Amino acid sequence: MSAPAPAPAVPGAPTPGRTAPAPSGIRFEGVTVAYGGNVVLDRLDLTVEPGEVMALLGPSGSGKTTALRAVAGFVRPASGQVFLGGRDVTALPPHRRGIGMVVQSYALFPHLKVKDNVAFGLKAHRTPKAEIPGRVTEALELVGMAAYAERHPRELSGGQQQRVAIARALAIRPGVLLLDEPLSALDARLRSGMLAELARLHRELPDVSILYVTHDQVEALTLADRIAVMDASRLQDCGTPLELYRRPRTEFTASFVGNANLLPVTVAGEGAVGFGGHALAVPTGTAAPGATATLCVRPHLVGIGDGPNALTGSVTEVQWRGSTHRVHADVDGHRLMADLRELREPPALGDPVTLHFAAEDAVLLPDGASEPAGVGP
Ligand SMILES: Nc1ncnc2c1ncn2[C@@H]1O[C@H](COP(=O)(O)OP(=O)(O)OP(=O)(O)O)[C@@H](O)[C@H]1O
Ligand SMILES: [Mg+2]
Repeated sequence: MSAPAPAPAVPGAPTPGRTAPAPSGIRFEGVTVAYGGNVVLDRLDLTVEPGEVMALLGPSGSGKTTALRAVAGFVRPASGQVFLGGRDVTALPPHRRGIGMVVQSYALFPHLKVKDNVAFGLKAHRTPKAEIPGRVTEALELVGMAAYAERHPRELSGGQQQRVAIARALAIRPGVLLLDEPLSALDARLRSGMLAELARLHRELPDVSILYVTHDQVEALTLADRIAVMDASRLQDCGTPLELYRRPRTEFTASFVGNANLLPVTVAGEGAVGFGGHALAVPTGTAAPGATATLCVRPHLVGIGDGPNALTGSVTEVQWRGSTHRVHADVDGHRLMADLRELREPPALGDPVTLHFAAEDAVLLPDGASEPAGVGP
């Protein structure tokens, strides 16, 4: 009798003792979600690269959570596809997508100890029993909560509970981490501490793609590699924080990412616009003479006194903001704000004031340019 032939290798079978890395990277292709015929996410095209942190920023009701739920599999798109790691997962149930998710309200089980909360997801993912304690410790160490394993959620602060929720999401070693306003239940100081924590966590898990939903621009600017700006069920803009801040493409982005002076202007010719009776020299790009547009100038780029593009108005408000004074002026019925440093004597209300800005610090936003952006990577 001859010895049995060795079993043929099964292509794609996992190597014993090693878990295949979870797929990283998210792609939305024309994803539309409707509730009862009401479209709440309209043809979303967006790619989150492996290892990238993408913030989904937008006002309440703009469709951010819906987009996240479509990735997690809790909502089925009416049309379009969701890809994880290049694979179409649109028809897969949530538990087969290998995703970690953290929501605003922690959703820890109150009757389970910290370690059992973290183990819960691992059991649901059928992790071998012997591996679970090690994986629980690993996840709790990542968020600095290993010393709290034996406590119940009620014995933890809000920030600590949120860390445990993050540990629970990370325990399955997901390739994709979805965070839905994870800091909104925390007070301002804890929030900024947790932001630094999340940034550190991302450095330790450089391959994980993170989709981070927030309506807080500071969180988005601090944490994200890129920001996708949502409004009214649609993606309005997408870019790095600096791109969106310096070169917003729409009025909505300009006012939602950072503060902005938005002045209604008419293009007079190349490099020239009219603002009321004033002629301003600003880049006009491809805008044709006669076209109406909005001029965006960031308040910290506005100076006081005479200079290029000087406009004179009267002071309507002065706010002391610690390192700057924000001076509001009324110029022909329009508000112009300047954030001024080292202002020895702030002007008084009603005083005349001259403000100015450099041509290169102004961005012209042609009217009607707020069509949703088909923005890819
Ligand atoms: N299960 C549902 N049934 C019907 N309508 C829903 C459902 N879930 C969400 N919506 C609606 O879809 C729209 C988008 O909701 P979504 O939760 O995505 O907004 P959001 O951007 O996350 O807002 P917020 O910042 O307030 O959390 C809202 O108008 C909401 O009322
Ligand atoms: Mg939401």
